[in-house]
Amino acid sequence: MSFTIPRTFRKIVVQKLTPVFKDAVQIVQQNVVPPRSREVLIKNKFLGINASDINASAGHYLKKNSELPLDIGFEGIGEIVAVGDKVSELKYGQPVMHMKYGAFSEYVYIPEEEVIPIASCSGSLMPLLVSGTTASLSLDKCGLILPGDKVMITAAAGGAGHIAVQWAKHAGCHVIGTCSSQEKVKFLESLGCDRPINYKEESITEVLHSEYPDGVNVIWESIGGKMFDTLFNHLAVKGRMIVVGAVSQYADETFGQDLKKGMTAKLLLRSSMLSGFFLPHFKNDIPHYLSILVRLLHEQNLKPHIDDGSLQGKPFKGIEDIPRAVEYLHSGRSKGKVIVSL
Ligand SMILES: NC(=O)c1ccc[n+]([C@@H]2O[C@H](COP(=O)([O-])OP(=O)(O)OC[C@H]3O[C@@H](n4cnc5c(N)ncnc54)[C@H](OP(=O)(O)O)[C@@H]3O)[C@@H](O)[C@H]2O)c1
Repeated sequence: MSFTIPRTFRKIVVQKLTPVFKDAVQIVQQNVVPPRSREVLIKNKFLGINASDINASAGHYLKKNSELPLDIGFEGIGEIVAVGDKVSELKYGQPVMHMKYGAFSEYVYIPEEEVIPIASCSGSLMPLLVSGTTASLSLDKCGLILPGDKVMITAAAGGAGHIAVQWAKHAGCHVIGTCSSQEKVKFLESLGCDRPINYKEESITEVLHSEYPDGVNVIWESIGGKMFDTLFNHLAVKGRMIVVGAVSQYADETFGQDLKKGMTAKLLLRSSMLSGFFLPHFKNDIPHYLSILVRLLHEQNLKPHIDDGSLQGKPFKGIEDIPRAVEYLHSGRSKGKVIVSL
């Protein structure tokens, strides 16, 4: 195998911050230089396109004080055409994939540890990278999907969505997928999606009300805005909603400001979870947890503290003292558990 490395290569850079991608970017030439010691030079053969490319072109992926022009692009597949002198495992000609920011380039320099070797250079692996890892990790780590769960995937026929559908099916879930055309409905059926919803022809609310009256266990939400509000109303008891994106808002110039103050963006950008808890929903777990608490108490690994009001002058005694004890709890002066003895 032999490659001819040109003296220069072309790449796309962001010259102006805007979500209108074509206005943001320009093609520039860069000189080819040898890779650094622990780097390889990859000739990209395939590049992955992601919804967030327009977030990147709008500057939302910017590190503070980064200066234009900015590299852009999230992922690529190609072949190694040069290796740094300290690179030992990777060889010239090796097909590889990478998720290196700045991928929109004919050639990329990548640290050896960030390179993922593959058997052959094929674009068919691209959906596994950003889309596949996003879909699988988010459903497992944040959705906590279990067999039998009803899982709703938005933009289900898209790059990340179509992997999410298959991942959830593989985990034994019942999958509902939203999309915008009959062609996509057919595509979703071919992937095993149990209930594709073409939201242009069917009302998501009506379908969920009539066919899923107990709600949906996991919602993989990537659209934002109205879709988020609609779906949130259909979250089942103990349901999990994963905010993976808000694609309907990316083209909006004000999205950057929302990113700073909006709740969904804050959850997404911190991979944080906001969870509700209502004890009666966990009544089957109560005996188990009580037994643990009692054991910890006996082992003196738990120190429950009781406040019977003594420190306030008079201990609470008799049902007639209950109102005083309630007031005491709300006064902010109590410590530990307030009790009344009868
Ligand atoms: N959090 C992360 O780390 C992470 C990583 C990767 C991707 N994501 C998110 O996952 C989502 C999917 O990304 P992707 O790259 O795979 O894109 P994609 O799903 O291939 O393309 C976007 C799809 O979104 C749907 N959509 C609905 N309303 C839209 C609107 N107003 N404007 C544009 N599209 C709209 C369209 O499908 P239908 O209308 O037919 O459903 C469209 O095909 C995005 O929200 C993205 O930001 C997040």
